[in-house]
Amino acid sequence: MVLVTGGAGYIGSHTCISLHEAGFDFVIFDNLCNSSQESLARVEKIIGKKIPFYRGDIRNKQDLQNVFDTHKIDSVIHFAGLKAVGESVEQPLHYYDNNVNGTLVLCQVMQEYNCKKIVFSSSATVYGDPHTTPIKEDFPLSATNPYGRTKLFIEEILRDLYICDNEWKIILLRYFNPVGAHKSGLIGEDPNGIPNNLMPFISQTAVQKREFLNIFGDDYDTHDGTGVRDYIHVVDLAQGHVKALHNIDKIQNVLSVNLGTGNGYSVLDMVRAFEKASNKKIPYKIAPRRTGDVAKCFADPSYAFEVLGWRAEKGIDEMCEDSWRWQSQNPNGYSRD
Ligand code: NAD
Ligand code: UD1
Repeated sequence: MVLVTGGAGYIGSHTCISLHEAGFDFVIFDNLCNSSQESLARVEKIIGKKIPFYRGDIRNKQDLQNVFDTHKIDSVIHFAGLKAVGESVEQPLHYYDNNVNGTLVLCQVMQEYNCKKIVFSSSATVYGDPHTTPIKEDFPLSATNPYGRTKLFIEEILRDLYICDNEWKIILLRYFNPVGAHKSGLIGEDPNGIPNNLMPFISQTAVQKREFLNIFGDDYDTHDGTGVRDYIHVVDLAQGHVKALHNIDKIQNVLSVNLGTGNGYSVLDMVRAFEKASNKKIPYKIAPRRTGDVAKCFADPSYAFEVLGWRAEKGIDEMCEDSWRWQSQNPNGYSRD
């Protein structure tokens, strides 16, 4: 049985579908601080099966022990965490407590129940401002904000855990920029308030919830001056977790793996692709650069293929078509108004 922390969230809900398709049994643990019961109901609708769900906080030992007492958990996919960069600058203690302390408590409980396999949601943010692209796993690590530092610290903590006890099997998946949604249009990304990230902002502009997109900088050293990122379809990303579980028993040492496509697209490339997919105009204005943004960030994904046999399969058009289907069918996300 797999424990999926944060399984009601954007990436977790898609991963649960892939786990089901791959024949894994799993339970979801989430405090719903950034998600809703509705996403779980929709996942159940897609897979046609009830999912054991525990509402609880990873910082609360008893909440976790309750799950481990009820099910024989043999591995954990750990998505639970807070992820808004700006908010992490305003509330660093909250971020360190939730993400770092939460992971410590989770690992303590895992140890107590002799469950020593964990797949952790890390991020390309641990490469800070990379000196060159594409980014390989052995590039130097750094952080530019508290959110990024929580990922960096958790990676270090997990490496220390392995050093003291080699029975642990630990995979750190470093995601690039997840976008897109499940083909059904039933689940997708549902940010609270004004989106910080590009794709939800574009799709909310397409349904006229936002008047126009601000493009943060057009004077970067990139093919058209706007920032370049490695957008990856969330269903490909979900599949990466299945591959991680398939391979976790045979890994030696802590494995750090980039999950990206290896393709870099600019903000303007994304706007054009979305316009094509949605047949809607995305009005935009050029705005100043956003503090902390880098010009280019994209993966060298070859190691993921080498060690997990995984590679992304979906391209930018499919990412935009699927984001659009989700957004147009659910203009208000999971809330039913
Ligand atoms: P999300 O917010 O949709 O999902 C996270 C889930 O964790 C939510 O359902 C939330 O309610 C839950 N959660 C948070 N704190 C919790 C706690 N203390 N106890 C129990 N549940 C808790 O985010 P997501 O986009 O699905 O991201 C999943 C993970 O991947 C996060 O750790 C995030 O930092 C990481 N990540 C995300 C991105 C991205 O762009 N979405 C990129 C890189 C890494
Ligand atoms: C951001 C975070 C990163 C986090 C990731 C996933 C920052 C500095 N980085 O990455 O730590 O891991 O989200 O949550 O916040 N853009 C616009 N207009 C917008 C929004 C974005 O032009 O309204 C541009 C950005 O300048 C960037 C690109 O679109 O060039 C992608 O931005 P975004 O989706 O926020 O992702 P990242 O900045 O890569």
